[in-house]
Amino acid sequence: MSATTTPLQTIGVLGAGRVGTAVARQALTTGYEVKIATAKPAAEIELIVEIVTPGAQAVDAAEAATADLVILAVPLHKYRTLDPGLLAGKAVIDVMNYWAPTDGEIDDFEHDPRTSSEIIQEFLVGARLVKSLNHIGYHELEEDCQPAGAADRRALALAGEHDDSKALVAGFIDRLGYDPVDAGPLAAGRAYQPGTEIFNGSHTAPVLHALLAAAPAPAFH
Ligand SMILES: NC(=O)c1ccc[n+]([C@@H]2O[C@H](COP(=O)([O-])OP(=O)(O)OC[C@H]3O[C@@H](n4cnc5c(N)ncnc54)[C@H](OP(=O)(O)O)[C@@H]3O)[C@@H](O)[C@H]2O)c1
Repeated sequence: MSATTTPLQTIGVLGAGRVGTAVARQALTTGYEVKIATAKPAAEIELIVEIVTPGAQAVDAAEAATADLVILAVPLHKYRTLDPGLLAGKAVIDVMNYWAPTDGEIDDFEHDPRTSSEIIQEFLVGARLVKSLNHIGYHELEEDCQPAGAADRRALALAGEHDDSKALVAGFIDRLGYDPVDAGPLAAGRAYQPGTEIFNGSHTAPVLHALLAAAPAPAFH
């Protein structure tokens, strides 16, 4: 898919754990301004942010949510601690996964046939959610990046209901060093949830397109 022409400057990251800090560092490397937050006050994470993601600004969650694009990198079981009001109208990447063998069984996800991102979208009413960056390991994000046009460039899928958000996210993924591949609506993210072939591997865009095409059609609710 084509990258956005909208100027995207600021990335807000909610969650300063393994994934949040890796995304923050890669975004900084590629020229974005990065604001990173946890549930704690900014002052409590200033030092660790300076060490782990030098160049990023430690902020409160409310300020991170003012960025052009917000990355949700909190443990899935904590999603209800997010404030939907902060994210209404915002382009948001949901990097979170539900995987009972490691997360333990979480009722909200275990007994609902929808994908975790559809459930998160319902909770974050008004957010323009895109499921992506969930199927690359945090340790790989800064290693597997390649310039556009590289023959074996790794591809990352994205899915969502909002074309403007998807275009923004596609441009972001491309700048991070990966080929963005539009999987379709949010429900199509089922094809790259934990346990799937896409989730478990590293794929170029043609292979990812083929795997997405071979995946069962997303269920609509
Ligand atoms: N590990 C991977 O390679 C990988 C790859 C792709 C996707 N994922 C998914 O990404 C998600 C995060 O994984 P992780 O390994 O990065 O988790 P993690 O290392 O446990 O970090 C989670 C971070 O979220 C913060 N947090 C918790 N509640 C918050 C809130 N309401 N607002 C802002 N920040 C909050 C935590 O800080 P405080 O508790 O101090 O606030 C912590 O900094 C998971 O759903 C995981 O499945 C993981």
